[in-house]
Parts: sequence; structure tokens; C-alpha cells
Amino acid sequence: MSEEPAKPPDLRRQLAQHLESLRLAGVEWLPTAPPLAAAAAPETEPGSVVQVSLFGDPETPAAPRASAPQLTLEQRRVELGVLAERVSGCTRCPQLASTRTQTVFADGEAGAELCFVGEAPGADEDAQGKPFVGAAGQLLNKIIAACGMKREEVYVVNIIKCRPPGNRTPNLEEAGNCREYLTRQLELVRPRFICALGGVAAQHLLDTNQPVGKLRGRFHDYQGIPVLVTYHPAFLLPHRSPQKKRDVWEDMKLLLARMGRPVPR
Ligand code: URA
Repeated sequence: MSEEPAKPPDLRRQLAQHLESLRLAGVEWLPTAPPLAAAAAPETEPGSVVQVSLFGDPETPAAPRASAPQLTLEQRRVELGVLAERVSGCTRCPQLASTRTQTVFADGEAGAELCFVGEAPGADEDAQGKPFVGAAGQLLNKIIAACGMKREEVYVVNIIKCRPPGNRTPNLEEAGNCREYLTRQLELVRPRFICALGGVAAQHLLDTNQPVGKLRGRFHDYQGIPVLVTYHPAFLLPHRSPQKKRDVWEDMKLLLARMGRPVPR
């Protein structure tokens, strides 16, 4: 008699049962990350962390996926950590994944009132794993201090999380691949204000082709969050256009007024 091939365990059913028992036991939330597009993050992606989501599997009717507004601050912090871990193994952009030293997720905490969005990590950021730590970052720190804030109290992030070789501008595909991460970061941080630094950040965030000169000086909207656009700190460096610092300060005063903060003397 020929032996029946062993059936693979019905993992999906087992998982659904397990999650249902957790739910019945009162577990409402598990750390997870946003479900990734299958093509973009195959389960077998080397180095990726396979996440089991209590909320994200459309075929598991255990509970609706916990959207960021339902999460506590602590849960949002945990979710950001899970997402950072997932981003660290990302290979959606094969070129960037093969040339980066490491991914540069963000600097700051969930609940920050203000989020600065830059373009992409440069050499210093790639080496240190933190955004805006090079020359442009030093200038950004001065801008933040001039606004009466501390760097630790703002959230700093880039449109893409890997350094493009030679610091070239991220292309549309790269920005698109990283978009889901940025979207989730902003959902979890939930800033009350966003400041887009430079044309690349502004254009991707606001889905526009307009240059900074046309976008600055007024507020735009990202998912109900007021967005101020200003020049990128790298553009203000001595060898470029330091005279634009005046415009940036005007923009910052506008932002402070909208935030209800005093303008430091
Ligand atoms: N420029 C950016 O846009 N981001 C950084 O993190 C550093 C420089």
C-alpha cells in the first residue's frame, strides 16, 4: 500500500485559532508592522523579520487591524521599533540595499509635536544610522534651537531610508518603495505639524511638482496635518545659498505662530 504524503499543517487555521484564543483571553493588541505588499516583501526575503499580525491578515477574522489612532503612546513606540527592525532588512531597492551601510530610520519619539521631513541620508547619516547628523544636520540643529526647541523633542525623518550612491536624488521608484514606511511612521508619531525640508521632501509628501519657492510661506495639508515647506538646510550652507536663511527664518516664524509658540529673541 502506498503511503499518503504527509499533509502540511494548516498553519493559517492554527494561527487563526491561536489568535482567537488570545482575543478571548482579553489580548487586544500585539506589536506588528503594516502589512507589506507581497511583491515588495516576500516572506522569504533574506534578513526580513516574519511578523504575525493579529490585525493585519484579511483572512483572519479575529479582529480589525489596530489603526494608529487606537494605539496608546507606548504602543505606538513599540510599533515604531518593530517597523524600524523591518526597515533595517528592507531590500525593495536592490541598488540602495547593496550600497548602504545601514538604513536610517528616524530620530525622535512617537508623540513629537513637530516632524521635520528631509530627503535622504548622506554619507554621515549612512555611517551613523541617524538622519541629519552631518553639515546640514548641524544647521538643522541650529534652526531647531533658534525656534526654542530641542532636537530631542522633534521627530526627524527622510523620504527614503537608504543613502543613494553619490548622494543623488532619490528616484520615483525608490521614493515609492519607501512611502509605506514614511506613511506608517507619520501615523504612529502623529505629529501636529510637519516641516518639509527642500523640494524633494515637499514634492513627495504633498504630491506636487512645484518648487520650494512656490510652496514656502504658507501651510499645506498632509492627512489633516499642517505642512510648512522651507529650504533644505544643505541649500543654506556657505557654498550654496546662505542668503536664503532669511526666508527660512520667516518660515519658522510662521510655523511657531501656528504652533502657538513664542518666537525666541
Ligand atoms: N539631508 C537629508 O535630506 N537628510 C539627511 O538625513 C541628511 C541630509
